[in-house]
Amino acid sequence: MHAPVASHDKDLLRFITCGSVDDGKSTLIGRLLHAAHALPDDQLAALADESRRFGTQGDQLDFALLVDGLSAEREQGITIDVAYRFFATARRKFIVADTPGHEQYTRNMVTGASTAQLAVILVDARKGVLTQTRRHSHIVSLLGIRQVVLAINKLDLVDWSRERFETIVSDYRQFAGHLQFDTITAIPLSALHGDNIAAPSAHTPWYAGPSLLQHLEQVDASAGAGDAPLRLPVQWVCRPDLDFRGYAGRILGGSVRPGDSVRVLPSGRQTTVARIVGFDGDAVQAGSGESVMLTLADEVDASRGDVLCAATDPAAVSDQFETTLIWMDEAPMLPGRPYLVKLAATTVGASFAAPKYAIDVNSFDKLAARTLELNGIGVVNLALDRPVAFDPYADNRDMGGFIVIDRYSNRTVGAGLIHFALRRSHNIHWQAVDIDKQARVRQNGHRPAVLWFTGLSGSGKSTIANIVERELHALGARTYLLDGDNVRHGLSKDLGFTDADRVENIRRVGEVARLMVDAGLIVLTAFISPFRSERALARSMVEGDEFIEVFVDTPLAVVEARDPKGLYRKARRGELKNFTGIDSPYEAPSTPELRIDTTAQSPEEAAHAIVTALVQRGIVRAAG
Ligand code: ADX
Repeated sequence: MHAPVASHDKDLLRFITCGSVDDGKSTLIGRLLHAAHALPDDQLAALADESRRFGTQGDQLDFALLVDGLSAEREQGITIDVAYRFFATARRKFIVADTPGHEQYTRNMVTGASTAQLAVILVDARKGVLTQTRRHSHIVSLLGIRQVVLAINKLDLVDWSRERFETIVSDYRQFAGHLQFDTITAIPLSALHGDNIAAPSAHTPWYAGPSLLQHLEQVDASAGAGDAPLRLPVQWVCRPDLDFRGYAGRILGGSVRPGDSVRVLPSGRQTTVARIVGFDGDAVQAGSGESVMLTLADEVDASRGDVLCAATDPAAVSDQFETTLIWMDEAPMLPGRPYLVKLAATTVGASFAAPKYAIDVNSFDKLAARTLELNGIGVVNLALDRPVAFDPYADNRDMGGFIVIDRYSNRTVGAGLIHFALRRSHNIHWQAVDIDKQARVRQNGHRPAVLWFTGLSGSGKSTIANIVERELHALGARTYLLDGDNVRHGLSKDLGFTDADRVENIRRVGEVARLMVDAGLIVLTAFISPFRSERALARSMVEGDEFIEVFVDTPLAVVEARDPKGLYRKARRGELKNFTGIDSPYEAPSTPELRIDTTAQSPEEAAHAIVTALVQRGIVRAAG
């Protein structure tokens, strides 16, 4: 690696194309690749062959087939993921993100737009500005793209009408007035015939602007990146021996030179850059987009996930944010559920509050919402398990964007943009108290614990928990039983049985159980608690050996036959909605501490087995 002087991304333009197959998007991209001579000969030959067999353009090349072929659009009927295509002209390199225009696929657009500097928004000249055009523009604006090309296509089908072109441009400008675009460049096109793609077309003598490719070559791609402050998340600490410690990562903003003062976040320690280490000697400077390894002048303890920042203009640090959240999973976002959030170089436990509002992607109106569904967008507060370094998304997309990961499936379920930090955490302090858990344990003569019963309604949780509590009481233990039906008369009387309400119910019970464990009690909880995530959350609130999950594993057929409250019958008749086991899921624990089979054991036998287990674990002492 030789000393790079300027930013490496300088002649690269990343852009996204938005529009549907019907608008001619595949044809447009195929044309661009062809015009830039990005198609190797063998691919051209294959295209000529396919055009003859499957094409819709007679003897001519059908460029739509080319792009369709690359993305498997042909089998699917629609494109289902983001395809990145690379091409170059003498003046510039390009990466185009091709995302499907189908209604459903907000997630793909978000993925493609999050790294793009420019958007080509395709409009069919016959149809003009549609709902879809507005949706694409809103999302593009939301994700921070400030340069737009309004590509008005199929002008051949409106007789190259200047009037039609100008009407659409003025409609669009009127609509886009409230979006945050810096430039909107309208270009009249026929992607099919190649007009105004690479060179000015004789069909549009009234149009004096650049062709699409000329514009893409000329447009300013650097947009303010040059004087941004340094941001370098540490992805890897290299320690081959005791004398060398290198911090490796990709620069997400600004540039760095040896001698620069840097601050390590979140710790806030300050030091100086010693070297920018390269394979062929040190570099004198490195810029945004480059992957580098630095050494620092002092032994500051920076680790993976920390961010090295310009000391004069460091990122902020917080654990609470207002964000725009875009939900991408079939299962809706559930307020209070523990997720993982991945930002810059770090992954951290996180949960969301109920949305402040959801956003209608077609009108951008604010809507009341309790959750976000697939493709939903909303403004939502985010709380992290620990403070992280960040910039608002508007200042630095890489430092202010994040993705949301489901803890169990490991799927990406959402993406978000940080607006600003919430300062709440600075005003609420933890009050130190003199009598602590240890003092209470000494006085009680036993250790605290949570006995978390889970299982279907009617499985026997409350019955068994009640006997266990009686036995523990007889042993002199201080106990408390939190029972589902009882808690729903008070603490949770505002909650029903939707997934979101159950998540909140269990979150509250987990918090109460945590307080009671701190009070030194043995807490018994008897809730269906159908979701793995929230049981894990409750577990995480206490010490590892204080949580004992008791799975009352009674099969659905058995509880339904027992039906002590007549609720299964009601649910089967459709008179009771969201009933666990019928039309609401139960996620059985895979590794509970204890499993109870009520078809083989009586409640008394089960209770006795549980108390014996508590004795074995050293939580209570046996009688006598
Ligand atoms: S949980 O899912 O949030 O853990 P919880 O244990 O509090 O549920 O409440 C379950 C009890 O509420 C059941 O035993 C039953 O008596 C009653 N109930 C009423 N409607 C429902 C429903 N739709 N699903 C499950 N239980 C219900």
